[in-house]
Amino acid sequence: MSVRRLAEVQPADFAFTQDNLHWAEGQIAKYPEGRQASAVIPLLWRAQEQHGGWLPEPAIRRVAEMLGMPVIRVMEVATFYTMFNLKPVGEHFVQLCGTTPCALRGANALKDVCKKLIGDQNHVTDDGKLSWLEVECLGACSNAPMVQINFDYYEDLTPESFEALLEDLRAGRPVKTGSQTGRSCSAPFGGDTSLTDESLYDGSVVGSWKSRFSDEPKGDATAADSAGRPEQNSRPEAKTAASAKDAEAQPNGKAKRATTVKSDTASGATTVGTAPKTPAAPGEPPSEKGA
Ligand code: FES
Repeated sequence: MSVRRLAEVQPADFAFTQDNLHWAEGQIAKYPEGRQASAVIPLLWRAQEQHGGWLPEPAIRRVAEMLGMPVIRVMEVATFYTMFNLKPVGEHFVQLCGTTPCALRGANALKDVCKKLIGDQNHVTDDGKLSWLEVECLGACSNAPMVQINFDYYEDLTPESFEALLEDLRAGRPVKTGSQTGRSCSAPFGGDTSLTDESLYDGSVVGSWKSRFSDEPKGDATAADSAGRPEQNSRPEAKTAASAKDAEAQPNGKAKRATTVKSDTASGATTVGTAPKTPAAPGEPPSEKGA
């Protein structure tokens, strides 16, 4: 988490333009009476857009006033979310993802490019064109390493392609958004490796899964059921567990006496016996005669 402080130099005042004021009133009207604070993020965002990409302190106060919120509450929102810039940014504001997948794919080398061409984080170049900030995952991990510049993603970057990209932006030349290696979206490098059977896409196998069931011989449920299942466990303990289960399942609710099998691990001997008789409830005959 980076330290987020308001800029030392602030404008004297902030006011929405007529268009933005009208838009802001529309946002506030979306919420029921007493819930106007819900519009805080859209209003802060619009104020930031109007103010050249960063949020001055007077704008925070103005939004608090419009929403009837304590200034500190709006300040908390503005300082918590990195989507709000509290200091001036360059015309091309680079947000560089430094989270693990991007770091493993070379984000640190991209940081070196930023330091070389721009300087430290939050520093705006003298021409006002570039500034950068390291941020957490931007959700394009499969195209790592990547950066967001203003509203666009630039992916599959190398130090060379990133440096060229920044130079092009600075010079006002057209640039390509998305993957810089030409792959489509986040398709795998080197071509597809799965779901490559063309019949999956020509409709010829639609519904074929049903034949597995219709072709199955009827009346052979037992064989079908047991197909592929492991053999019943033949260990003595398993037999005991099965007998106990049978006993519980008696329709009259009375348990059969289960056979017990004890194994002496020291001698290796196995003893087979009968479980103790369940005592009958008062006034009821014993469940089984004789032992
Ligand atoms: S880790 Fe960089 S976009 Fe997700």
